[in-house]
Amino acid sequence: MLKKISVDHLRTGMYIKEFCGSWMEHPFWRSQFVLDDPNDIQRIRSSSIREVWIDTAKGRDVERPEQGVSESRSEAEVDATLAEAARAQRQTSPSTTREELTRAAAIYAKGRQAVSDMFGEARMGKAVDTVVARKVVEEISDSVTRNAGALISLARLKTADEYTYMHSVAVCALMIALARQLELDEEAVHAAGMAGLMHDLGKALMPMEVLNKPGRLTEEEFAIIKRHPEEGHRMLLQAGSAVDATTLDVCLHHHEKTDGSGYPHGLKDAQISLHAKMGAVCDVYDAITSNRPYKAGWDPAESIRKMAEWTEGHFDQRIFHAFVKSLGIYPVGSLVRLESGKLGVVVEQSRASLLKPIVKVFYSTKSKARIAPKLVDLSHTTCQDAVADREDPAQWNFPDLNELWSDGHAAY
Ligand SMILES: [Fe+2]
Ligand SMILES: [Fe+2]
Repeated sequence: MLKKISVDHLRTGMYIKEFCGSWMEHPFWRSQFVLDDPNDIQRIRSSSIREVWIDTAKGRDVERPEQGVSESRSEAEVDATLAEAARAQRQTSPSTTREELTRAAAIYAKGRQAVSDMFGEARMGKAVDTVVARKVVEEISDSVTRNAGALISLARLKTADEYTYMHSVAVCALMIALARQLELDEEAVHAAGMAGLMHDLGKALMPMEVLNKPGRLTEEEFAIIKRHPEEGHRMLLQAGSAVDATTLDVCLHHHEKTDGSGYPHGLKDAQISLHAKMGAVCDVYDAITSNRPYKAGWDPAESIRKMAEWTEGHFDQRIFHAFVKSLGIYPVGSLVRLESGKLGVVVEQSRASLLKPIVKVFYSTKSKARIAPKLVDLSHTTCQDAVADREDPAQWNFPDLNELWSDGHAAY
């Protein structure tokens, strides 16, 4: 039997089935667990959560019958109600990058916690918790629906030592944006997100000193790392029917290349599935735009240009083009020089044209000096300016480049 009780009556030994409130509001990355730490009760009471569902078949009941209980129902009834409430709570109307950044930063932080715990549990040999993964994917999916650029751009700014976890969140968001661009149905979009989140789970079993090595890998070390798709696939198979076929496939085949030179199976173009091909594109983009122990991440527009050069033999052309459409030729955060000689950072894509984003200008190459930051919509009919070229941020070294587009959300 499930009972909805006030947080004032929580005691250790109770099994929490679900918090009454959104996943973003409660202080834990998972919802279903036995309360065994009195500090956790304190954390719940000091959050905005006022009631929780407990499962009296799996844990302790309330002290006196019906004490603090506002409802008692069967598990099936509660599951149906919770699913309905979750659907009703989802907000998917469009927002600007600026509006979405605050929410995206919170989702990113919670996703980071969930993924690092998921990797930790995988290391200990525990089965993957797909209930949590599904919630992470839903939150990320809704954020990408409201504004594709916000979460994806924030996720690029990971520090080198948190790369492995945050890369999973980033690839999840990129996969969802790409799946929408390819007009896949909702089920396939969700599957793409799940696959992105789980694709590198096998890295949980790779030796840390190789994973975070500040330099080029030796041939021997690379041979070890190349085992991660098969290790991840094996771990996901252990989780059984809760993991769908797309996740298994992308986990195993995201390092395959269309010319057959990838690993682990050297599959060629037609042998690689749509989702695995999508995984390959999203994986490479996030890898090259992120800071790593041995190199700084590349500018997003520069990365798109480089990937376009590598497309033949590595990526599926149609999928790569859709990817560029989903992010822009000058993705959010790219440094560009305008024909007027001003430098600006891309803050938003415009619907009108991939070549005419909204840019925040802040430097004049003519006067060689900073100017007051100003938003310029290059797609506006009265706008006389246009992008002349991208610029290499490493040549300029503006310390506040990420602050300029992220309104302070880049620092956390
Ligand atoms: Fe990988
Ligand atoms: Fe990856």
